Amino acid sequence: PTQTVGYRVPAQTPFQKITHAHPMRSLSNAFSEEDLIAFDQRVRAITPSVTYVVEPKVDGLAATVVYEQGHLRYGATRGDGVTGEDITHNLKTLKHVPHSLQTAVDLEVRGEVFMPKEAFLNLNAKRQEAGEELFKNPRNAAAGTMRQLDATVVKERNLAWFIYGLADNTFWPDLTHMQTLEKLKTLGFKVEDGALAVPTMQDVLKVVQDFEQHRHQHPYEIDGVVIKVNERHLYETLGFTNKSPKYAIAYKFKAEEVQTRLTEVTFQVGRTGQITPVAHLVPVSVAGTVVSKATLHNEAYIEERDIRLGDTVLIKKAGDIIPEVIRPLLDQRPAESQPLRFIRHCPVCDAPLKKDPDAAAYYCVNALCEAQQKEKIRHFVTRKAMNIEGLGEKNVALFYDTGYVQSLVDIYKLKDHEEALKALPGLGEKSIDKVLENIEKSKSQPLERLLFGLGLRHIGEVGAKRLAAAFKTLEALSEASFEALIEVEDVGETMAASVRQFFEDTHNQALIAQLKTLGLRFDTDQTVTLENSFFKGKIFVLTGSLETMTRQEAAAEIERRGGKVSSAVSAKTDVLVAGEAAGSKLTKAQALNVTIIDEATLRTQLGLNA
Ligand code: IVH
Repeated sequence: PTQTVGYRVPAQTPFQKITHAHPMRSLSNAFSEEDLIAFDQRVRAITPSVTYVVEPKVDGLAATVVYEQGHLRYGATRGDGVTGEDITHNLKTLKHVPHSLQTAVDLEVRGEVFMPKEAFLNLNAKRQEAGEELFKNPRNAAAGTMRQLDATVVKERNLAWFIYGLADNTFWPDLTHMQTLEKLKTLGFKVEDGALAVPTMQDVLKVVQDFEQHRHQHPYEIDGVVIKVNERHLYETLGFTNKSPKYAIAYKFKAEEVQTRLTEVTFQVGRTGQITPVAHLVPVSVAGTVVSKATLHNEAYIEERDIRLGDTVLIKKAGDIIPEVIRPLLDQRPAESQPLRFIRHCPVCDAPLKKDPDAAAYYCVNALCEAQQKEKIRHFVTRKAMNIEGLGEKNVALFYDTGYVQSLVDIYKLKDHEEALKALPGLGEKSIDKVLENIEKSKSQPLERLLFGLGLRHIGEVGAKRLAAAFKTLEALSEASFEALIEVEDVGETMAASVRQFFEDTHNQALIAQLKTLGLRFDTDQTVTLENSFFKGKIFVLTGSLETMTRQEAAAEIERRGGKVSSAVSAKTDVLVAGEAAGSKLTKAQALNVTIIDEATLRTQLGLNA
């Protein structure tokens, strides 16, 4: 079953260990031009006539993939270099990992799994919406994602992968490294495309400088470059140190750190009440953008570094994306400065803050806190929740400040104030009519949207869908035990605890009772529950004969879940469902690197195996 996309490793079982056929070494590091010149001298002392290849070093995690007769057999993480973990089910969901090659070769390739910057920002934005902890940088996000048990989650996160070489240096001994990359490309691999061949170390230094200068122009993080001897037949002669080969070295870029002044610290209150200290800075350019605010994370972070107002501070972008204050420059500290005081009361409602016992964060405990309420309302009406058009951020703030909507319940009572609303400056009659109409319409949104909109901690869009599908009604969900909750796919202990906590809170019980009286829908229907990301918006082709259903039935089920079914395989095809005795469509799909699943996987994804 591990050979099909969407296979879910049973919960609690660790990933299978895999002993690498060839050890996965790491590279030794160079931090300066001198280090690189010394590397060149060491190389030339053993093999005087060499040339070099310079490649960007993508910041992700190393993976090895084994092909037999041109078919992907398994893929693994590096682990300790000798033994890694089987991540085949996850690797297979990556767009650029071919399931089969142009030629029936036995081959083991090495590459980097990484998360492009855009995918990283989108993922963190989603997690923020769901009140989940953010990933610190794309590398952590990629590593965390590859450890997911559910491959469909991996697929949604848009990881990418490049390969940069072979596991076995003695394979294709006559090819240079550059020629090897070319050859791998023709087999169907996505190869790191910035590789440059140069004759001497002088040229390497120039190219390295160039890479460093343009490091932020790539759609993914690069944390350095890798310099490799191009002549692969010399690799064995050059040999190895303890952990790394002598034919290559990694040159690490310096993280761009910039000085600026900390002028103010404010405290943001999120939807869940979490307080985040934010540094306001004299604007400076860092890693390609102008930064005027940076996170200070939490109280402990500020205290450990003794960061103070008026300090000249060093800032950088964590993982080159999220601005963060590193530390103050003490020799530039103004004489009169005082340690920064973390607040003990909510900056908006003045309620006492409570510390999360499991984390460094403080929370405003007042469920009725204005900042939290505004954020909650804003979240409730968003497109992916109740989708109330016309109630954007500006109108939420206006209705809140004028007192018409100060809780979720008030949204549905807005119609009682129609005349007064129409008299508000800046809002025409028509737009009020439209908003009120959209509010009424939103009452029939299905349970999964209501649930996501209610903004339970740790319950994002997917979690809400899974819970709605499993319990069907809000009443049933509110009565579900912790044990019943963790039985649900993708629902872990943190999520289950959050659901229990939500429904045990008397404010929430009152809120739910009121929403019910106002006529909101508390259940879900098949079609929407069925809509799932594995099918939605994707083009499927069915081929071969299926055992448990006809192709027409399968097509209908796919379409009910938001997928399209087409008769011919093309570059646009996303998934081929291959039944028994699949023929030319299968071959074509393999050539086009289309995801191929069998009937059992289709049934699992359709939810028919439960
Ligand atoms: S060559 C013997 N080339 O950097 C190791 N590595 O320690 C051969 N990396 O985690 C590695 N880009 O996954 C090589 N173009 C590139 C690379 C690259 C990123 C990673 C690699 C490993 C680390 C090196």
